[in-house]
Amino acid sequence: MSARSELRSGRTVSRGGHGGFLEYVGVTLSYGGLVAVRNVSFTVERGEILCIIGPNGAGKTTLLRMTSGLLRPTAGEIWFEGMRTDTMPAHRIAALGSTQVFQDIQLFSNMSVLDNVMAGAHVWTDAGLVGTALRLRPAIDEERRIRRAAVDQLALLGLSGVLQEYPSELSWGEQKLVGLARALLCRPKLLLLDEPYGGLDTEDIERLSMTLRTLKSEGMTILMVEHLTDVVMDVADRVVVLHYGEKLAEGAPDTIRADERVIATYLGE
Ligand SMILES: Nc1ncnc2c1ncn2[C@@H]1O[C@H](COP(=O)(O)OP(=O)(O)OP(=O)(O)O)[C@@H](O)[C@H]1O
Ligand SMILES: [Mg+2]
Repeated sequence: MSARSELRSGRTVSRGGHGGFLEYVGVTLSYGGLVAVRNVSFTVERGEILCIIGPNGAGKTTLLRMTSGLLRPTAGEIWFEGMRTDTMPAHRIAALGSTQVFQDIQLFSNMSVLDNVMAGAHVWTDAGLVGTALRLRPAIDEERRIRRAAVDQLALLGLSGVLQEYPSELSWGEQKLVGLARALLCRPKLLLLDEPYGGLDTEDIERLSMTLRTLKSEGMTILMVEHLTDVVMDVADRVVVLHYGEKLAEGAPDTIRADERVIATYLGE
């Protein structure tokens, strides 16, 4: 649809030059006097894995939380598929197809692995629970469908053996993969990961990288914050480097690895 016919049809979706999949335009966030993210601009393309790296306190988590609507920029704009999202509440951004996995996972300790993952399908809690209690046919079908999807998702991540275990019985790596499985249940278009590799052993690192590549091949866009630069250089299509809240560099992994400013301030450490 051309811009003009779009105007005529009265659609409110504003392109305004924001045709990229996910765009940050001059995004700034201050916590009181501390500027955690300063005037950051870049675009995430559809279907790529983009990694944000940078030292502790660089503003990486803050940027992700603004993307999910959990924090509001002090200045600047965020656009997701042509819609301005920095002013939207988090649940509306989630409904557009964006899901975040947090740095500290946040599994329900009193629920089995399978139930934790099924909880990722919020439709289940909205309509499903009441319907199930009343033994309504469609609700039971829906629950079965969600259960099957959760079992399949856990199998893909190599977690079939722990469906009925509780989070405290799992290794940290397994807990992280369960958190990912839960996020994947609603098939997000945009997956936001905050240090998904943190605390994983070599085997789980490889398992996670394979999963991320598979998701990408299925068309998912992944925006990931990560400390482990070796892993980032292996899995990322592009990298953005943050330093004290500012964008220091942006480019393909090889470009970033060779960037003198990045080496001096971060990679060389
Ligand atoms: N709720 C808050 N109130 C005040 N300052 C905060 C708050 N959250 C973060 N900060 C500060 O903002 C800056 C950016 O923090 P952020 O958590 O985004 O960094 P990060 O790059 O994710 O770091 P890490 O690698 O340690 O996770 C830091 O200086 C941090 O101390
Ligand atoms: Mg962080």
